[in-house]
Amino acid sequence: MGNQARSTGVAVTGTAPGALPLLGHALTLLRDPLRFIGSLAEHGDLVHVRFGPLRAVVVCDPELAHQVITNERVFDKEGPLWRRAREVEGDGLITTARAGHRRRRRMVQPAFHRAKMPHYATIMSDVLADETTAWQDGEIVPVSAFALRLTSETTARVMFTDSADPEAVAGIRAALPDLVGGVFRRMLSPAPVNLLPTPANRAFVRARKRLQDSVERLIAGYRTAGERDDMMAVLLAAEHDENGTTDDEEMSALVTGLFLAGTETTSSSVSWTMHMLAEHPDVQERLRREAESVLGDRVPAYEDLIHLPYTRAVVTEVLRLYPPAWLLARVTTSRTTLGGHVLAAGMNVIYSPYLVQRRPQQYPDPERFDPGRWLNAASGCPGSFLTFGEGARKCAGDTFALTQLMVVATGLVRRWELRPVPGPRKRPRARAVLHPRRLRLRLDRRGAA
Ligand code: HEM
Repeated sequence: MGNQARSTGVAVTGTAPGALPLLGHALTLLRDPLRFIGSLAEHGDLVHVRFGPLRAVVVCDPELAHQVITNERVFDKEGPLWRRAREVEGDGLITTARAGHRRRRRMVQPAFHRAKMPHYATIMSDVLADETTAWQDGEIVPVSAFALRLTSETTARVMFTDSADPEAVAGIRAALPDLVGGVFRRMLSPAPVNLLPTPANRAFVRARKRLQDSVERLIAGYRTAGERDDMMAVLLAAEHDENGTTDDEEMSALVTGLFLAGTETTSSSVSWTMHMLAEHPDVQERLRREAESVLGDRVPAYEDLIHLPYTRAVVTEVLRLYPPAWLLARVTTSRTTLGGHVLAAGMNVIYSPYLVQRRPQQYPDPERFDPGRWLNAASGCPGSFLTFGEGARKCAGDTFALTQLMVVATGLVRRWELRPVPGPRKRPRARAVLHPRRLRLRLDRRGAA
């Protein structure tokens, strides 16, 4: 249906069925978010939904989603969803609206320069070695906890050298689970509900305070310390280039944002990669053989990654099926048209990488895990792969994340055989980030007697 109408240049609009009085589709979204979002394409290219009082249009067509996220002048990071995200991060690079974006992006960008990646890749391998050193043959590993430790430790070491305040770094790490857990719930709850003294709200407020205090303490330490060679030092150097000193609140929001962006999303992808490798022993074996033939006994250096096309294809296919940031939003800053339809100013516009990356028009047999589809693949239509976003607001850490996923995938399969643990089929848990629910895997040491 959608395609027919799109060929006339006008998108098909629809309304999601099943809205309840007052609540609209909020309960359906909370109960089974992926099924709800995944079902919307049946109703059109632009589908109207309502979460409590919040009305929004979900963009189901990849090319229209691409138009939305590459036009940040009209589709900005405003509205209740981003306001709630700012409650966690502050006005940082990810959450800030267009007016504050350029300056922040220019401060952060040098930290992700390609020339820095070899150093980061070494840290990633070191952390992997540290976090797996105690594993025994046949170890049953709770994967999400392992992955979160791995990525938060990596981010901590990349951002703050060992000489930085370890207590403050530990404070940031300890605050993450309650913070991240609270974001999605708070984004969908009416504001007064977030003020109630429930245990979850209290834990969230405590975690936010702990995070802010720890980050401020770290920044203060850096401002008085001498030269260091890490991400924090790059940020502090950049603030001088960008017209003077950034106030602590803004710097704290930048650091917090990088910490949140760098740990939770990548840890989800590490978990999914481990899950898919365990479920697909043939893929695991092919990846292992590629790593062995390219690397021999070495851990991968950044320069090696270009010679590991199959590993990259595996990781990309994981990111297609399970994009950690699966639901994102914008608000129209003025009246505009999208796909031939008028959108009023102030309209909430939602896009979902999870939805567009499972459309059969772009990915035949979309539910199938098939890394082969990325080998020699022609690039798809605009908007067909949105895991890292697009345009001016595209993920600043995409190369960093891909590097970490490839380093971890090769590092793990060369020493360990990943096997599923019997139990019910793993279903995604979709909150602010998409995680495999309670995933545990068995790790058998390769070459063990
Ligand atoms: C698999 C891992 C990751 C995924 C899937 C991911 C995804 C995304 C997405 C979708 C956006 C755009 C959001 C939007 O359009 O509203 C984004 C922005 C961003 N990400 Fe990532 N990210 C990942 C890892 C990282 C890492 C490791 C870092 C840094 C250490 C990072 C830093 C950022 C920053 C700073 C932005 C804001 C860019 C801007 O607005 O200019 N991300 N990310």
